[in-house]
Amino acid sequence: MTQDSVVIFDTTLRDGEQSPGATMTHAEKLEIAEMLDDMGVDIIEAGFPIASEGDFNAVSEISKRSKNSVICGLARANLKDIDRCAEAIRNASQPRIHTFIGTSPLHRAIPNLTKDEMAERIHTTVTHARNLCDNVQWSPMDATRTEYDYLCKTIEIAINAGATTINIPDTVGYTAPKESADLIAKLILDIPRSNEVIFATHCHNDLGMATANSLAAVSAGARQIECTINGLGERAGNTALEEVVMALKVRNDIMPYRTNIDSTKIMAISRRVATVSGFAVQFNKAIVGKNAFAHESGIHQDGMLKNSETFEIMRPEDVGLSETNLVMGKHSGRAALRSKLKDLGIELADNQLNDVFIRFKSLADLKKEVFDDDLIALVGEDTGDNKSYKLGLKSLHVVCGTEGPQKAVLELKIDDEIHFVTATGDGPVDATFNAVKELFPHTAKLQLYQVHAVTEGTDAQATVTVRMEEDGKIATGQSADTDTVVASAKAYINALNKMVIKREKSLPGEDTKSVSYKDAG
Ligand code: KIV
Ligand code: ZN
Repeated sequence: MTQDSVVIFDTTLRDGEQSPGATMTHAEKLEIAEMLDDMGVDIIEAGFPIASEGDFNAVSEISKRSKNSVICGLARANLKDIDRCAEAIRNASQPRIHTFIGTSPLHRAIPNLTKDEMAERIHTTVTHARNLCDNVQWSPMDATRTEYDYLCKTIEIAINAGATTINIPDTVGYTAPKESADLIAKLILDIPRSNEVIFATHCHNDLGMATANSLAAVSAGARQIECTINGLGERAGNTALEEVVMALKVRNDIMPYRTNIDSTKIMAISRRVATVSGFAVQFNKAIVGKNAFAHESGIHQDGMLKNSETFEIMRPEDVGLSETNLVMGKHSGRAALRSKLKDLGIELADNQLNDVFIRFKSLADLKKEVFDDDLIALVGEDTGDNKSYKLGLKSLHVVCGTEGPQKAVLELKIDDEIHFVTATGDGPVDATFNAVKELFPHTAKLQLYQVHAVTEGTDAQATVTVRMEEDGKIATGQSADTDTVVASAKAYINALNKMVIKREKSLPGEDTKSVSYKDAG
């Protein structure tokens, strides 16, 4: 690595997916991993193998399929976690084990370990990880709230035990840019052999400073940024990959560091992560928001027409946004659709394109003009045929109007069998949800039901988001259709499918961030 390179470590599939409601299916994880690999992400944290069979299988499969990226799995500081992680990444051409323990007073209190006992645990577990893998990352969780001397001591132990990357997590998004930079600079100065490892920065966005804190850490000597697409992550999220990458690119004059990321692939992966996670990107989000390159005021539009640099510090095409919004319609052919999707950064295999083309034609029959956003929604849509899902919508008819009761007649695929029911409710959406519940009884409570129009006009597609909660677990589903009730049914079913996956995912007796000491050693 040359001095001016910064390694991009993406944790969308681990810290991002850990965010309440952001569950992804196995197939979706593989697809996102492939996109991350293709866009030049150096290290993909693919999951937390001990957390569930699903996580283990995803990390294993991503490891087998990886091309250029290092594939990393997460493990708590115990031997069982580390063994499981090593097994999951076994087939990666470049594997990495990432092991962590909470070092701050608050985190040390949970397992009730003395400082010395924890130091011993770090030595044992990092040594074990290093015996299984040459590439080991170690993290003192909640580093920014750990006593400085103790932090130094633990890092020194991890380096001596063989860690090759030392990550400094700001787990609760507590630090600020100057403090972030000072901490990294001081650690590098004070810790023996610090020049033999890479220091990483892992920031959360609770105070809205994750990007600034990460860049400040780089200015002080960190050479790995941990981040997620769209800043997906617990609470206010993690550092957004697109923000740090574009900041380093646009302001290379004052931050002379390069990354391997092909920034023209940013929009495509941002849209895909938004769809599969169910976390829509806010309109004014930096880089990837719908309005990030939109100019509405007369003065801005006039300036833009004369010279786009008047109000733009980067070009839309630098992040993979096509310049035109050429409208497609029912006379557009397969080749035009393929080329349009390519402009949008979406490349489909022939069989996928055929499927999307059929759905595009039906949409074009319903809607005179099919806009970019319609196509993006169409590609991301769950058609109900997804084999990795338990439930799928087969058909739906609703009766609604001023005279109740509103009625839904539903055909639902559960595993491979089709079931049929008629249910009533307070409005067509309520009747539809009641019908699903009759066929697939569950205790999940509806937390959020939201409808957005994808484009303008009464024939616009509606995107519906549904969030559900069951025993403290949250799942989000999203779907689009020109029929709002159909979109609602699909979003509701999608959320239930994600809840089914979520039910399998829990560490025995503890959450994924706590540390088990019983079985270590
Ligand atoms: O935020 C955090 O501390 C983490 C660790 C597991 C690195 O995600
Ligand atoms: Zn984190």
